[in-house]
Amino acid sequence: MATPADRLWKNARLATMSGAGVVERGAVAAKDGRIAYAGPEAGAPDAAEIVDCDGRWITPGLIDCHTHLIHAGNRAREFELRLQGATYEEIARAGGGIVSTMQATRAASEAELVTESLPRLDALMAEGVTTVEIKSGYGLTLDDELKMLRAARALGEARGVRVRTTFLGAHAVPPEYRDDPEAYVDLICGTMIPALGGLADAVDAYCEGIGFSPAQTDRIFAAARAHGLPVKLHAEQLSNSQGAAIAARHAALSADHLEYLDQAGVAAMAAAGTVAVLLPGAFYFMRETKLPPVEMLRAAGVPIALATDCNPGTSPLTSPLLVMNMGATLFRLTVEECLAGVTRNAARALGLDDLGTLEMGKACDLAIWDIESPAELVYRIGFNPLHARVMGGV
Ligand code: NIG
Ligand code: FE
Repeated sequence: MATPADRLWKNARLATMSGAGVVERGAVAAKDGRIAYAGPEAGAPDAAEIVDCDGRWITPGLIDCHTHLIHAGNRAREFELRLQGATYEEIARAGGGIVSTMQATRAASEAELVTESLPRLDALMAEGVTTVEIKSGYGLTLDDELKMLRAARALGEARGVRVRTTFLGAHAVPPEYRDDPEAYVDLICGTMIPALGGLADAVDAYCEGIGFSPAQTDRIFAAARAHGLPVKLHAEQLSNSQGAAIAARHAALSADHLEYLDQAGVAAMAAAGTVAVLLPGAFYFMRETKLPPVEMLRAAGVPIALATDCNPGTSPLTSPLLVMNMGATLFRLTVEECLAGVTRNAARALGLDDLGTLEMGKACDLAIWDIESPAELVYRIGFNPLHARVMGGV
């Protein structure tokens, strides 16, 4: 007889997010941190410890695949200015926006960044998040970018959550390079990317009029790929710069935002297997009216992920449950699409093929919910039915 599992969750209903679909009266077993079994309870192995779920639902632990969780200060004042009519671009061009958070972040120590960011991580975890992507991009010097990336790793260690870090040196041109943006791109490609040394799992850029041009983005991605790092892109958020096509050309893991994405961009992403990460929190907070081309993405078979985009300027949001609700309400995604967006497809957007579904061999990261149907996770607003969170089988 096979050796018993370490732990078994039984009397549960499973949203496996795999081809197995939903399993009524199911069970999940963990062995050495991995899923040893997920399926009908009748076929479950013995285990050293048994947890009776009393009919609760189990989903894969949630994955927030796009955040700027590490930053200092906030931009509530700019929010008030926008309420009075100022636009995001006007504030950015006047030296506010990303640059104002950059100043606060440069002034903070690594320990201060961790302390300031922990409550945001705790808010995500309280709603079932077990993996979070965290970008740099508010340092914009080598030392300050590395400080952010170290703080991101430290945050994960402090809470036992999986953290994937992304280097976003190309978030904004810092003031000291305002007259020579190309020199800043040279610094990113020639100095920063080569110095990341394992602190970053991917490289991102902000391809936009107030960010980096398509040609600059292309250069940054070539440097990233030459250093063996996968890429992701903030693309077509405020306008159509054809960024998604550049991302696809570099086999990007994901292109994110995408409100202004066109058919050619969709086709390029489909051919490259690039995930579309939609960020309804930023859409909502910016009062955007241009909807991402969900129907085109579906038709082309591009996987759709959803994330908080937690950041102080365009999406001060720390609720994956609200993201799902917004994905459905604002973008008309189905319940199944919303759930896949924060599990299976979010894992893909991070290049993590051992997470995101309840399948044998995957990491045993679970969220256990006090709900009667998965639709309840998407339908409620401001209510958290999380019963328990399991990381690596514990
Ligand atoms: O994902 N678009 C660029 N980056 C962020 C905004 C960052 C900020 O305003 O501080 C975003 O929306
Ligand atoms: Fe972002």
